Amino acid sequence: MRYEATICLRLKKVNMMEMNQQNMNQNNIEQAVNLLKSGELVAFPTETVYGLGADASNSAAVRKIFEAKNRPADHPVILHIYDQSQLDKWVESVPDIAYKLMQHFWPGALTLIFKARKTVSGLITGNQDTIGLRMPSNPIARELLKQFGGAIAAPSANRFGKISPTKASHVWEELGDKVKLIIDGGDCSLGIESTIIDVTKIPPVLLRPGPLDVDLIKQISGVGVIDKGKDKNNNSDKDMPRVSGSLASHYAPKTPVKLFTFDELDCFAPQEDAALAMTKGVMSFRNKPTNLRDKIIWVKMSGDAVLYAHELYAVLRELDSKNLEIIYIELPPDEIIWQAIRDRLQRAAG
Ligand code: TXA
Ligand code: MG
Repeated sequence: MRYEATICLRLKKVNMMEMNQQNMNQNNIEQAVNLLKSGELVAFPTETVYGLGADASNSAAVRKIFEAKNRPADHPVILHIYDQSQLDKWVESVPDIAYKLMQHFWPGALTLIFKARKTVSGLITGNQDTIGLRMPSNPIARELLKQFGGAIAAPSANRFGKISPTKASHVWEELGDKVKLIIDGGDCSLGIESTIIDVTKIPPVLLRPGPLDVDLIKQISGVGVIDKGKDKNNNSDKDMPRVSGSLASHYAPKTPVKLFTFDELDCFAPQEDAALAMTKGVMSFRNKPTNLRDKIIWVKMSGDAVLYAHELYAVLRELDSKNLEIIYIELPPDEIIWQAIRDRLQRAAG
């Protein structure tokens, strides 16, 4: 399926299910490349979440990203590249640790923060001296980057502060009137945003936990990695780059979210007056207890962290659309494999 907004912003949804998948993507990619080259925004799938892309070397185009997302101008955007030879245009220097990480994790869900070249627009860096780059592995993203030839600046394709999109329909709901083309690549395989490592620091700093195994990152880089998240309330490090994903309220649905642990199930005791009670949502690892009233929408989540990440944002969005009083989410265990998910849940709970 393809979602398209025409030049005059008359929106139309084109069902191309009958078309051969390969042709469809090829047509979309050609169209996307032309739009990017003419300074327009294009949303595209990556293996993490959908991105809202613009030609990184066109400041007017990059500015449109901020307008569409309603994103504050001082929040930097990451660049997406097809191969490592493109680094030179944007990056001042590439430390050895970065080569090791790139060799192992690129293409993939790893964003690296480098020292930026002086020539890079402050729109991209958020007026800092660093720049984030990643090489996505999603085949559609790769084909788009290959045919486009340059770097594509792309934050997640959601309004600022909202949940990242993992389906083309999510982008359509939020930014359908702001973007010329949405390439539908189906569900994002990983479902949460990339791991961000700042390699300008020694040892490197984990700015945002993501789909990658942090222990493996430490092993590959050969040094420890400082976990910025463990130091969340410490604002004393003025050198720390700003990461909008690190704001406490980021990734939040409009419905209040409350986290609960395994022993707190009694918060779901049936209401005294069920007729007055508003419907609540629950995301839990367990089945719905039999003594609960129907006013609870209960979603049983996967106990596998990879599958959980894959479905997390779609489930949150679905519950958020139901005008619930509150969404209760059972917190996964405090284990490294759940780190990124716990991070996103804690932010969703604000
Ligand atoms: O998986 C992803 O990273 C997705 C897909 C589309 O690639 N992109 C994404 O972009 O999540 P965004 O903008 O929603 O999140 C990127 C984060 C932001 O929090 C931004 O502040 C941070 O990366 N960032 C970008 N450039 C940075 C820099 N130079 N220093 C520190 N943080 C930076
Ligand atoms: Mg984002």
